[in-house]
Amino acid sequence: MRLFHIIRAQQFDRELLSRIFSEAREMEDVARKGGSDILFGKVMATVFYEPSTRTRLSFESAMMRLGGRVISTENAREFSSAAKGETLEDTIRIVDGYADVIVLRHYESGAAERAARVSSVPIINAGDGPGQHPTQALLDLYTIEKELGHIDGISIAMVGDLANGRTVRSLCYLLAKYKDVKMYFVAPDVVRMRDDIKEYLTRHRVPFYEEEDLKEVASKVDVIYQTRIQKERFGDRIEDYERARGIYIINHEILDVMKPDAIIMHPLPRVDEIAPEVDEDPRAAYFRQAQNGLYIRMALLKMVLTG
Ligand code: NCD
Repeated sequence: MRLFHIIRAQQFDRELLSRIFSEAREMEDVARKGGSDILFGKVMATVFYEPSTRTRLSFESAMMRLGGRVISTENAREFSSAAKGETLEDTIRIVDGYADVIVLRHYESGAAERAARVSSVPIINAGDGPGQHPTQALLDLYTIEKELGHIDGISIAMVGDLANGRTVRSLCYLLAKYKDVKMYFVAPDVVRMRDDIKEYLTRHRVPFYEEEDLKEVASKVDVIYQTRIQKERFGDRIEDYERARGIYIINHEILDVMKPDAIIMHPLPRVDEIAPEVDEDPRAAYFRQAQNGLYIRMALLKMVLTG
């Protein structure tokens, strides 16, 4: 079956996941050899209502490396007709006439779903507010498999803003499809993992533990997935934000207790939740993880546009 809209992590099954990963492995070769022209003549629109560096540029680079072209509005909230009061639905109805695929980032949860309802071309959700970020979760899983050799059986600590972090939410949905995965949630009180995800994990019999002691958790997991406290989701609750930041930091003390073959991931951007001293450690996988975003997005564009 052809992959069309990419809206939420729950839409993938293991067979599709392994197809995506094997396409991504091929894309590593394609990129190394200077690209290809399989998407020649195709146009991708990136419509971003929220800031982004990696997601937008890696999608654009992916499209170009496959011979396609890109049209883009990077600050759509201010610079697109949204500023004049146009609805998302109307904008999408117009852009789908100009492009063969639309990559959308929006500040409201559910926006990608709304766009998909009116779009005649594939919509790729590049983050919908505190909702989901499925392509990030795909590159996260791809990174875990590449770094550790397997996904079944891993134990992972998700750390930081678990209430507002859309990447951890999507990642939980995807990881629930694998066997014997154990999750540890380590979050400041004001941003603990939400009930919808916990209920989903319970229903899918994925064991998870809410913990406070990062050092203790760090000593036993295969993956530490650190996240940024999502300041933009706090509105005027500055005090809550200030209370949440700075509590859980990955530094040499955490490195000292980690298993020698464990890895540290982060969707980036980081603020201060991973000390720069960690970057030199071979277990710091976050820059390799960001690079994998290119290969995953090349694979997804190929699959969405050529079937
Ligand atoms: C993340 C996002 O936008 O959700 N960034 C990304 O896409 N790599 C994480 C974040 O902003 O903290």
